[in-house]
Amino acid sequence: MKDLLRIVDLTPDDMTHLLDRADHFQRHPLDSRELLAGRTVLLYFTKPSTRTRISSETAVVRLGGTPLTVGPAELQLGRGETIADTAHVVSSYADAVVIRTFDDEEVRSFARAARVPVINALTDGHHPLQALADLMTLREVAGDLPGRKIAYIGAATNVTHSLMEAAALAGLSIAVATPAGYAPDPAVEAMARKLSAGGELLLTDDPYEAVEGADAVYTDVWLSMGDPPEEKAARVAALTPYQVTAGLMAAAGPGAIFLHCLPAHRGEEVTAEVIDGPSSRVFRQAANRLPIAQAVLEALLARDLAGAL
Ligand code: CP
Ligand code: NVA
Repeated sequence: MKDLLRIVDLTPDDMTHLLDRADHFQRHPLDSRELLAGRTVLLYFTKPSTRTRISSETAVVRLGGTPLTVGPAELQLGRGETIADTAHVVSSYADAVVIRTFDDEEVRSFARAARVPVINALTDGHHPLQALADLMTLREVAGDLPGRKIAYIGAATNVTHSLMEAAALAGLSIAVATPAGYAPDPAVEAMARKLSAGGELLLTDDPYEAVEGADAVYTDVWLSMGDPPEEKAARVAALTPYQVTAGLMAAAGPGAIFLHCLPAHRGEEVTAEVIDGPSSRVFRQAANRLPIAQAVLEALLARDLAGAL
């Protein structure tokens, strides 16, 4: 595996390895601090980011390297240089590239032309680093993953897609409750069903059906970065019945935790009572982004630090 563009780039064993290494980095944050000595990792972000950018930059530093973070206005990409030429050139300088952008095809094109690992830091379709931190968090709480269940409630997003793929590989059951028009991409659904390691995948429009027996209840924003802002009112109207409330949490399995990738909008996809309440693990989940970033960089870079000419 050269790149991590979506969760199904991983095998189930790869994913377990990453979760195990992330647990290790959680306990030993400065382990492997020589791994990237003298090396750089380029972070190219065309959308805002708090967690992904700062955890990725910090992960590079903790592994001994130097992160270089740039936006579109700082690269000649913004003036029309092709993705392929950019990827070709950057591969001569940086040892990995972490990209947050819109269209998944942009990241795929970059990865095809790059001779160094490319990591998807969120696209419109996928958010693999987030899903790994989500599973790490659930595993910390539940002790194991196979046979556990996640309920995702709200609008299907990049986060939902990566979570569905991660659940499939981990043998987790996942129930996704969305209103009509906000369901997951059927191609992701098909992939999750094909790769399922035994967990169930339920798509429903009933949030109460989805949370039945769930170990974790998960939601994401109703309007993602890149969604047209003029859709906001229609989304609020369609999604208000899908708000995660204390009542919905009470209908989940005993001891169910609440998860959210953040940033959150209290009073929209989740009530303040739930996200700031005792079942919430959102800040642990956010903290877990850092050891996950370390584990992913280590796995992709330890294999080949020679770069390529
Ligand atoms: N969850 C997440 O990716 O957050 P950021 O947009 O702040 O990176
Ligand atoms: N679905 C959200 C996730 C943010 C981390 C978005 O793409 O904006």
